[in-house]
Amino acid sequence: MARARDDWQTQILAASATGADGTRSVSEPALASAVRWLAQSVPVVIPTETVYGLAAPALDRAAVSAIFAIKQRPLDNPLIVHIAAADQLAGLGVRFSALAERLAQAFWPGPLTLVLPTQAELPWVTAGLDSIAVRQPRHEFALALIRRAGPLAAPSANLSGLPSPTRARHAVQDLSGRVPLIIDGGDLDHGLESTVIDARSEQPVLLRPGALSAEEVEACCGCALHTPGDHERIRSPGMKYRHYSPRAELWLYPPLSAHPAAARQLAEDAHHLRAQGRSVAAILRRRIDVEHFIALPSDPALIARQLFVWLRELDERRVDCVLIEGVNRTGLGRAIMDRLERAASRVHRHEPVLAPLEGA
Ligand code: TXA
Ligand code: MG
Repeated sequence: MARARDDWQTQILAASATGADGTRSVSEPALASAVRWLAQSVPVVIPTETVYGLAAPALDRAAVSAIFAIKQRPLDNPLIVHIAAADQLAGLGVRFSALAERLAQAFWPGPLTLVLPTQAELPWVTAGLDSIAVRQPRHEFALALIRRAGPLAAPSANLSGLPSPTRARHAVQDLSGRVPLIIDGGDLDHGLESTVIDARSEQPVLLRPGALSAEEVEACCGCALHTPGDHERIRSPGMKYRHYSPRAELWLYPPLSAHPAAARQLAEDAHHLRAQGRSVAAILRRRIDVEHFIALPSDPALIARQLFVWLRELDERRVDCVLIEGVNRTGLGRAIMDRLERAASRVHRHEPVLAPLEGA
C-alpha cells in the first residue's frame, strides 16, 4: 500500500455560513476549497447525515487509492460511491433492479446504500467485485460538493478499526496531518453508518444494519430481508473486520431490567475491576457507583447519535474498561447491537437456565 502524507497543515472549515438575511447555507469558501483539493486527487473529510466521510472522486484512481493509504484500510474492502442525483449513476455502469428503484424512490436521499451490478471497470472502488455500493446522502454540503465534483467514493473518516467519526474533532484526532482539509458539519443527524442492502435480485439481503431500520426497508420491499450466513460473509467484505473498537476494553451485557442475573454479574465485574485498580466506566439505564457513569437513554435514536461519541470520549479519559448494557434488537436497536458486538472484547450472553434433568 502507498504511504500517505502525514505532514499536511490540516485546515478545518465550517460547512455552512450565515448569510446577510440570517439564513444558513452551504459555505462557498469551504465548498470551493474542497473542490480544489479533489481536483488535485487529494481526499478531504466531509460531513454526511450518518458519519463523517473521507471523500475522493470515484473515477480518479489515484485519489481513491490515497483513501486506502490515509485510513490504512485493507485493500479488499470496497467503498461506497455517493451521488447527488440518479443521472450520475450512468457513469458508474450501474444497473437498477425493480427492487432497487423502489428502495431508492423511498429512501434517497438518505442513509441507505444499495449494492448493485456494475459494468464499469472501477476496481479501485469495488476491490475488483462486479458490484458497486451507491448511496445518495441527505447532507446539504455533501450534495453540493458531489454536484460540483461528481460522484465521490467515501468510507467513514476514521483510521481503520476505530469508531466512525460523528464530530469533526474525531476526524481531526484520526486524520490530522494526513489530509489537508476537514469540513466541520457539526453534530450529524444519525451518528451511525448507512444500512447496506444487496439489491441485485428481487430478494433483498441486509449486508449491514444501519441508520435506516430493517423494518422500514422490509415494509417498502413487501418481503423479509435475508441476512447472509457466516459462510456468505464475504458478500460484504467490510463485515469480516473487527470494527469500531475503542482503546478501552468494552464488555457488553444484555438489557439489565430483563436479565437480573446479568445485572448482578455486571455489579460484580465492576467491583473486581476497581479492586484491580482499573479505571471503569458504565453506560447503563440505572446508575451504579463507578468512576465514569453515562446514563443510557431509552430512545435508540439518541443512543445511535451518541454511541461513537461516548466510546471516543472514554478513551480520551483513559478509561480501561467500559461496561455497557445492550438494547432490544428492533428498529435502530439492531444496528446499535451490531456495532457494540463488533467493538466488544467480551460479550456476556444471557443463557437460559436449564431445568435439571429428571433423575440426574
Ligand atoms: O454511512 C455510511 O455508509 C458512511 C458515509 C460516509 O457514507 N460510509 C461508510 O463507509 O460507512 P465504509 O467504507 O466505512 O463502509 C462501507 C461498507 C463496508 O462494509 C463495505 O464492505 C461495504 O459497505 N461495501 C462496499 N461496496 C460493497 C460491495 N460492492 N459489495 C458488498 N459490500 C460492499
Ligand atoms: Mg467504516
